Amino acid sequence: MPMNFKHRDIISIKDFSKEEIEYILEYAKHMVPYAKAEKHTTLLNQQILATLFFEPSTRTRLSFESAMHRLGGSVIGFADPSGTSLKKGESLADTIRMADSYSDAIVIRHPQEGAARLAAEFSEVPILNGGDGAGQHPTQCLLDLFTILTEKKKIKGNNVVLLGDLKYGRTVHSLAYALSLFKANLTFVSPETLKMPKEVINECKEFGVEPVSTSNLEKAIKEADVLYATRIQKERFPDAEEYNRVVGSYKVDNALLQQAKQDLIVMHPLPRIVEIHSEVDSTAHAVYFKQAFNGLPVRMALLSLILGGKKI
Ligand code: CP
Repeated sequence: MPMNFKHRDIISIKDFSKEEIEYILEYAKHMVPYAKAEKHTTLLNQQILATLFFEPSTRTRLSFESAMHRLGGSVIGFADPSGTSLKKGESLADTIRMADSYSDAIVIRHPQEGAARLAAEFSEVPILNGGDGAGQHPTQCLLDLFTILTEKKKIKGNNVVLLGDLKYGRTVHSLAYALSLFKANLTFVSPETLKMPKEVINECKEFGVEPVSTSNLEKAIKEADVLYATRIQKERFPDAEEYNRVVGSYKVDNALLQQAKQDLIVMHPLPRIVEIHSEVDSTAHAVYFKQAFNGLPVRMALLSLILGGKKI
């Protein structure tokens, strides 16, 4: 089937078919030497990416910007909306209209779920969702899949444990859907109050996957091939006391990993706060920094398909 990504908005991982995801992941592999500057390209020469970040970010913004530079393009944007005319009362719609007229594609991160979809209504140029509230983070999902694929050689059949804040953590919502599409086995481990939303579980079931939900990490880790830990999303809690009750519920450390398979990989979208002890960093289990690097070839692959309309 011919793949056409040119000028497409990327709002949700659900916007892609399984074949399209496979195509992007395969192309991302080809992009690795370009991401490491071992090979060079000017594919996106004269093209401009706008990065509009209404919420803090390190990886998503910097890797998108690095990806655009590595492809020969340039970048405009902001990391903090307080320095823009939003401060004077300008609407999100008008801000998007301005970025649309100054660029060839827009990456947006916003605290409100649905903001990227809304932005797409006001923009002629493609919108890439860099995370919208507790909603979706599709490019993170692609780099997570890419990491599992490169580390485990396949996605199907792996026992994947998603751990932590499964209620507010947008990366796990996108990932649970995509892993079900690829027929991984899923276990959801969280405090009782931060369980995976029912609608996400139902989506998994539509693909024939029956996720197990538990609060017992010690038991779940024994059979796991992939442990995907997440931060408790303090900024999304309506009540600080409720956050204080659950922060530190789980900690991945070397004592816990003693009980795991030798080839278990530990992933995390980062930033980590207390979920993974730094002693894990030097073990063969830790792939979270590689995972963060993988954001570069994956985002390069996407930008070159959306803006360049072709592979290099
Ligand atoms: N994984 C992720 O989205 O990281 P940032 O919040 O630093 O972009």
